[in-house]
Amino acid sequence: MRTHYCGHVDEQLMDQEVEVCGWVHRRRDHGGVIFIDLRDREGMVQVVYDPDIHDVFATAERVRNEFVLRVKGKVRARPEGTVNANLRTGKIEILGLELEILNRSEPPPFLVEDDTDASEEVRLRHRYLDLRRPEMLNRLKIRAKITSRLRRFLDEREFMEIETPFLTKATPEGARDYVVPSRTHQGKFFALPQSPQLFKQLLMVSGMDRYYQVARCFRDEDLRADRQPEFTQLDIEASFITEDQITTLMEDMFRDLFTHILEIPLPAQFPRMTYAEAQERYGSDKPDLRVPLELVTITDLMKSVEFKVFAGPANDPKGRIAALRVPKGGALSRKEIDDYTKFVAIYGARGLAYIKVNDLSQGREGLQSPILKFLPDEVIDGIMKRVGAEDGDLVFFGADKEKIVNESLGALRVKVGHDKGMIEHGWKPLWVVDFPMFEYDEKENRFDALHHPFTAPVGTVEEVAANPEKALSRAYDLVLNGTEVGGGSIRIHSPEMQEEVLKLLGIDEEEANDKFGFLLKALSFGCPPHGGIAFGLDRLAMLMTGAASIRDVMAFPKTQSAGCPLTDAPSDIGQKHMRELGIRLRQPVIKEAEKEA
Ligand code: AMO
Ligand code: AMP
Repeated sequence: MRTHYCGHVDEQLMDQEVEVCGWVHRRRDHGGVIFIDLRDREGMVQVVYDPDIHDVFATAERVRNEFVLRVKGKVRARPEGTVNANLRTGKIEILGLELEILNRSEPPPFLVEDDTDASEEVRLRHRYLDLRRPEMLNRLKIRAKITSRLRRFLDEREFMEIETPFLTKATPEGARDYVVPSRTHQGKFFALPQSPQLFKQLLMVSGMDRYYQVARCFRDEDLRADRQPEFTQLDIEASFITEDQITTLMEDMFRDLFTHILEIPLPAQFPRMTYAEAQERYGSDKPDLRVPLELVTITDLMKSVEFKVFAGPANDPKGRIAALRVPKGGALSRKEIDDYTKFVAIYGARGLAYIKVNDLSQGREGLQSPILKFLPDEVIDGIMKRVGAEDGDLVFFGADKEKIVNESLGALRVKVGHDKGMIEHGWKPLWVVDFPMFEYDEKENRFDALHHPFTAPVGTVEEVAANPEKALSRAYDLVLNGTEVGGGSIRIHSPEMQEEVLKLLGIDEEEANDKFGFLLKALSFGCPPHGGIAFGLDRLAMLMTGAASIRDVMAFPKTQSAGCPLTDAPSDIGQKHMRELGIRLRQPVIKEAEKEA
């Protein structure tokens, strides 16, 4: 139907006849001449209709936004002064000789423009129109290039792409499962995989040696800008490989990716940091190294002060007191400080003490803070020295359980960095390593796996069993500008260690066999040492396209409440279907729903 994409018609085709198809971006009538900006996947071209060609002109007059057209015409130079240097087609226009309306369009609910004020709900409901916006289209194009480049890298290194099932048994990664009822096994359910973790390990047992998959994962968890209930991983596993080998290979892959997609060289070696150091200095296991602010521990200085807010956590083995120096933060207004206090409260902080540093040479007199009166001179002096305070700074303090201090000051650090324009330019990848194997869940009174239960701990079965809270894991996360883009580990390959780890997680033998019996059995048939990693492809595409949310790099994402406004999923399936599946809704659920209706 066409000879060229709209966006590819340029001065190379001068004086030639071309045929293009596309959507009407805009129609303008100018003193008897009609201009149509025709748009397709590759861009926009200007078509001009002259009243001299009567019938074609009459058709052009009927054209409205988003009509689908086929245009035949002659390429000519744009008149001087109307050249648009920003467009590939900006030096030319097409003089329309023929025009066919291929399809009409209702007036769209929002203009198909990059600058849209349509709500996300409306955009998602009409996603096919939203995806016509050049911005969205470009993001999906880059995403496709990213996936293609990653595949190519792995193909060249003899990784095999292998598909694993969606209808399967629970594969725990710390979220709730999405389940699918079985018609043929009534009362039983499949779980959609939270990741292909167990299957990729089974592929290693089977000797596939190097596997990858662009895999959809399903997790029923609270959603945020960087989390969706179904998302895509680049999932990788290899046998007979060490942590160093796999992280080195992945660095190569990222350098290759960034060079080819963004023409940006990433560092020759990505820095590594232990989990403990990341928490200590940045209050996070995914520090954004572009923010130059750091947390400093001052717990030891506060042990014998009378100020209870500080003395309490200082004498609690699980407590921490940390300071965050904000250079030139003395200029922060009362309102800004109040807003930051509200911000840290989201993370459970009960307050946000601060000291303004006006003039260090004057000692206590040169400082300004509601908490000064509670602190002796030598403590104040100690804080100022340790944080390296300078005149004009402001120092924030967090005092609480370590977890709360880290989460609140860690988030504050990033927020202040952004608010005050302190973000360094560029890309800062980082490997975070030496994670604790387990995390103690105070509420449930048991250990949880910090990664997943198949991650290998450092040490022997006896050592891990004797001291689980001290055990480290052989896991590694890749963090890019404060976002966790990937995580992986060397896996457990001995059935004894796997059984012990499940036991420590409070999973008894019966439950272990019921849930993971197939894995334990497979491990006992000559499982090779193996390890791998998975990257969040959506997150990576979000970062590389500069999008604010992973929803903007997914063609058909879900809303914050995990629904799809376009298809209205999830939806009722009807009584007949329910009966076939052997399912009846619980009465109270129905009553609740009726009450709401
Ligand atoms: P993990 O759970 O860390 O590891 O997931 C790997 C990466 O997937 C991305 N990710 C998500 N992206 C969007 N929405 C979500 N809800 C979501 N959850 C995770 C993140 C994350 O780093 N089987 C292991 C990997 C392994 O050990 O090889 C796993 O799934 O970028
Ligand atoms: P208060 O004695 O509760 O009025 O607190 C005095 C100052 O300490 C205020 O600036 C509070 O914001 C701050 N503050 C209170 N609790 C904490 C805490 N847990 N961590 C840091 N600062 C706190």
